Amino acid sequence: MIEEIKRIQEKSQDEFASAVGHKELEQLRTKYLGKRGILASFLKRIGTLDSELRPAAGKAVNDAKRAVVSFFEEAKSRIESSAGGKSPATFFDYTLPPYPFPKGFLHPCTLVMDEILDIFMEMGFEVELGPEVELEYYNFEALNTPKDHPARDLQDTFYISGEVLLRTQTSPVQVRVMETIDPPVQMISPGVTYRRDAADMTHLPMFSQVEGLMVDRGITFGHLKGFLTEFVRQMFGEGRRTRFRPHYFPFTEPSAEMDISCGVCGGKGCRACKGTGWLEILGCGMVHPHVLDFVHYDTEKFTGFAFGIGVERIAMLRYNIDDIRLFFENDLRFLKQF
Ligand code: DAH
Repeated sequence: MIEEIKRIQEKSQDEFASAVGHKELEQLRTKYLGKRGILASFLKRIGTLDSELRPAAGKAVNDAKRAVVSFFEEAKSRIESSAGGKSPATFFDYTLPPYPFPKGFLHPCTLVMDEILDIFMEMGFEVELGPEVELEYYNFEALNTPKDHPARDLQDTFYISGEVLLRTQTSPVQVRVMETIDPPVQMISPGVTYRRDAADMTHLPMFSQVEGLMVDRGITFGHLKGFLTEFVRQMFGEGRRTRFRPHYFPFTEPSAEMDISCGVCGGKGCRACKGTGWLEILGCGMVHPHVLDFVHYDTEKFTGFAFGIGVERIAMLRYNIDDIRLFFENDLRFLKQF
């Protein structure tokens, strides 16, 4: 009988190993381990044996039972892990996305960036892109900011090597575009910029700008004011006053900063506008003839205006956010509000 049990055990091993699917597995389990299964029938037969043979036979049946159970378990996990045999009751795919499926949304700065681009594209500006890892020549030199110029101190950055750096502004794209096409030029250039600034409520070492440039015959400061005033009207709505305040940029002459009346106090003066009633939104000016010289444009024939908008700054004004760092902390409780 012991020989017989061993043979049955071997046979069951083969059968479990080649079982396909839960149904067949269950049939095999009943066949060998069920109440009226093969191993149970051996147990019953033990009673018919001579008493001195019974212990060994009992042990053989129990050993076989343990072995068959392990064949069953092995086959079960093999079937469950193979694609064909998933049992919905026991199989759980941890890689599936949770339900309900979370819907993605755009970052507030992306929303504002898109809005800025839409407004200018509608006014005829074409989008151009430039590298974030930039040559010193484009970032400073060709923008009328030579090596010993004090304006470089205001835009310290991360140098890759002596001549290669992370751009501090999108203005170098002006030069790159003018190098490749003849006037008229009417372009905007969105992108990320870098400065060696410590993060605080209004500064980050990485931020975004949108650059604008228009060069043609007879372009005046009047054109600049017209385009930018219309931009503010579309971006912030009717009823915001604007002003152009004299400023200095090396690559424009004259240069200005544009302010809009404070949306919090309506221009009376409050904490948000530091009591002035005005909020600065961008830098701008008439393209300096030196810059046009660098790209071999005829300064007798062509003039232009340029501007640079800080995207995070516009987003902060638009959504009344007082700390720029919130944009990059990736806290969903903040980001989901837009
Ligand atoms: N590049 C300047 C900055 O980052 C912003 C700027 C000012 C851009 C005047 C311009 C401009 O094109 O004309 O501070």
